[in-house]
Amino acid sequence: MQNFYLWFAVIGSLSEYLNRRAALHGIADTTATKKGNLTMADLDGTNEAKNFHLSIQPENKPFFLKGSNALGWGIQNRLARIFSPASARTVMLAIDHGYFQGPTTGLERIDINILPLLPYADALMLTRGILRTTIPSSFGNGIVLRASGGPSVLKELSNEQIAMDMEDAIRLNTAAVAVQVYIGGEYETQTVHNMTRLVDSGNRYGVPVLGVTAVGRDMVRDARYIRLACRICAELGAHIVKTYYIPEGFETVTASCPVPIVMAGGKKLPELDALVMAYKAVEEGAAGVDMGRNIFQSEAPVAMIQAVRHVVHERMKPEHAYELYQTLKNENRQRGA
Ligand code: R5P
Repeated sequence: MQNFYLWFAVIGSLSEYLNRRAALHGIADTTATKKGNLTMADLDGTNEAKNFHLSIQPENKPFFLKGSNALGWGIQNRLARIFSPASARTVMLAIDHGYFQGPTTGLERIDINILPLLPYADALMLTRGILRTTIPSSFGNGIVLRASGGPSVLKELSNEQIAMDMEDAIRLNTAAVAVQVYIGGEYETQTVHNMTRLVDSGNRYGVPVLGVTAVGRDMVRDARYIRLACRICAELGAHIVKTYYIPEGFETVTASCPVPIVMAGGKKLPELDALVMAYKAVEEGAAGVDMGRNIFQSEAPVAMIQAVRHVVHERMKPEHAYELYQTLKNENRQRGA
């Protein structure tokens, strides 16, 4: 009987010793945790960690977008929801026109006309009103929210103000906010100030800002002007700049802008011309396109956005992309799509 108590004590001490040792080495106290029913199934077989790969240095890869290396993790992650890390370019579909011009041709019924295009858009540029009412929350690509506004087409367009709170942008899980900047416009300073305030709050919360260079009707769209407008946006903190393609000197615009530039589509052109414009913009340094009317006002928008994708991501020659557009258009027509 005495021996029994002795063995009992020895086993108790041994168990306590083993548990202390386990605690020291970060191994679970299996007796205690099991007793308290706290153990996780895989802890029983846990061995001491030993695969430290001492001879392999961790990789320190630069971020894939121009001028974006010093940004925080959150901003970079959001940018990677807009730009494909594989090509470092984007096909952004702009459908925000209603914020100043109401139901634009092609956008009368976003549920009918635009939803079929979503699978092909890397990012969607739109207002929070259309996002909340019409876009399924299962949409997984980048949302670029229009964050400035005020005047309608009936008034002076440059008289914009910030039209949404960064908090709401975050609530909507947005990948970036977009703001119009009217360099040379009547309310130039006000619109620049709108952008810098959004940049400040965007930097605070990790949300990138897209500066949209808005060119007034009576302004000359030449390289000198576009360079000026893009550079001002980037200098004052925009993380991405949207601007128009110009036939002469677009490469000097992209070269002198330290952040990615996306090409604005502008007014509707014949499909081949729009594909040529997108091709040239990408060849001359654009990080993709942010096109609206040239896609949703096309005779075959689903075919057009697919053709644009091939130009932007694969650098498909515009003539081939146009052939693809026609093939897809005919196929979709036959399927009744
Ligand atoms: C204009 O400046 C706005 O951002 C537009 O509503 C839109 O993004 C323009 O797209 P697009 O010129 O390609 O139709």
